[in-house]
Amino acid sequence: MTKVITYGTFDLFHEGHYRLLQRAKALGDYLIVGVTTEKYDMERGKLNVVDSLPIRIENVKKTGFVDEVIVEESLGQKINDVQKYHIDIFTVGSDWVGLFDYMSDYCKVVYLDRTKNISSTMLREQNKRIQKIGIIGSGRIANRFVPESKLVSGVSAQAVYNPHKESAGRFAEKWEIDAYDDLNAFLRDVDVVYVASPHETHYEYIKASLEHGKHVLCEKPMTLKKARTEELFAYAKAHKLILFEGIKTAYCPGFEKLLGIACSGTIGNIRYIDACFTKLQKTTDRELSDREYGGSFTELGSYCLLPIMKLFGNAYEDVRFDVIHDGNGLDIFTRASFTFPRGIATATCGLGVKSEGRLLIAGTKGYIVVEAPWWKTTYFEVHYEDASQVEKYSERFLGDGLRYEIRDFLNMIGGNNKSDFKLTRGESVAMAGIMEKFLEQEKRGLV
Ligand code: CTP
Repeated sequence: MTKVITYGTFDLFHEGHYRLLQRAKALGDYLIVGVTTEKYDMERGKLNVVDSLPIRIENVKKTGFVDEVIVEESLGQKINDVQKYHIDIFTVGSDWVGLFDYMSDYCKVVYLDRTKNISSTMLREQNKRIQKIGIIGSGRIANRFVPESKLVSGVSAQAVYNPHKESAGRFAEKWEIDAYDDLNAFLRDVDVVYVASPHETHYEYIKASLEHGKHVLCEKPMTLKKARTEELFAYAKAHKLILFEGIKTAYCPGFEKLLGIACSGTIGNIRYIDACFTKLQKTTDRELSDREYGGSFTELGSYCLLPIMKLFGNAYEDVRFDVIHDGNGLDIFTRASFTFPRGIATATCGLGVKSEGRLLIAGTKGYIVVEAPWWKTTYFEVHYEDASQVEKYSERFLGDGLRYEIRDFLNMIGGNNKSDFKLTRGESVAMAGIMEKFLEQEKRGLV
C-alpha cells in the first residue's frame, strides 16, 4: 500500500484545494491530510484564517479523497509524521517547490501544479470589503503602522493627513499613498481612521472622524481627560461606530497568555503589581520637547497601567505620583502608586532615567516576572517559594506587534466582537482619568 501525506490550512475550501487532494489521493492508496491549527497559523503569520479548525477538517473530509486527517501544530512536525505514519510520498502544491526537498531523505517528494487564479487569500479579500485606512499624523509610530497594516488582510493604507503639507507629502511619497492637508477631504475619502498625532490632538481628530461616520483606531493615550473619553465612546456607540484605543500590548498573544496564567490562581491571590517601562529619548524628540503634554507618564503610562487595570480592575482607592522633572519642568521619571481594596500597584515610567523595566505580579502562592520588553510579551516565568520550581512560558510576538491590534480592530468592524475584552471601554476611561489626575497635579505644582 502506498501512503501519501499532504498539509495545508484549507481555509474557505476552494477548487484549488479539491484538485490538490484529488491528485494527492491518485498518487497512492491511502491519503493522510495534515490541517493546521489556528495557533500554528498565527505563529506562521497567517492572522486572518476565517474557518475554524473543525470546519476546515470537515471540508477536507467531505471531498471523499481523504482516509485520515491529522492536525499540524508546529514547525518540524512533518518529518516526524512521515516516519510515524510510514509515508511513501509527501506532496504539496507547486507554490512550495524546493522548500520540502529536505523531506526526500525520508520519502518521495512530489510537487503538484497549483490551480491557477484561486487561493484562500483571494477569497478572503473578496469576502471582506477592503477598508481604506487613513492615517492622521506622519511621525514614528505612523511609519511603523503602514508596514504592519500590509500584513493584515482586509485593510489598505491609502491616505495620510497632516496639517503640515510637507510632512504629509514626505510620508505619502515614502509609502506610496495620498497626502492631504484638508481634514474634511481626507475624511471623505477614507473608510476608517488611525490617529497617530500628538496626544493632545487625539480628541478633536477622533471627534471629527466619528462625525464623518468613520471607525477610529487611536494611539494611546486616547485622550487625557476622563469625560472626553466617555463622551467619545458614547458618541461612537450611539452611531454604531467602533472606537478602539491602540495599546498594542493588550492585543498581543503573549500578554493574553500572561493574563490567563495570572488569573488562573496558580500564584494565588494577586496582591502587588509593579510595571516599569523606561526609554532614553533625545531631548529634541516631541516626548521631551512638548512642555505641556510631553513627558514620561503621558508617553509610557498606558503600557504600565494596562496590567494593573486588567488584573486589579478600574476601582482603585487612591493614586499618588512621585516625579522627577528635567530643567524644563517635564516629568522624566514618574511613579504612580495605587492602592486597591486587596492589593497595591506601581506604574513607573522613565524617558530620561533608565531602569530595569520589568513587570512583576506577586501573589499569595508565587509570582510572575516578565523582563523588558514585557510590553511585547514573548517570555515569562512563574516562581514559587521553592526557588527551584520555575515554570517558563513563551509566545510569539511578530514584527512591531501592531498587526494584532489592527486585526482585532478590523474584526470588530466586521461585527465580530470576540476580542473586545482585551481592552474595555471602562479600562480606557479609567486610564484617561489617571492621566487627567496626573496632569492636573503637575499643573498645580503638587508633584
Ligand atoms: N493549492 C493548490 N492550488 C491553489 C491553492 C492551493 O494546489 N490554487 C494547494 C497548496 O499548494 C497546498 C494546499 O492546496 O498544497 C493547501 O494550501 P493552502 O495554503 O491551505 O491554500 P491557499 O489557497 O494557498 O491559502 P492562502 O491563500 O491562505 O495561502
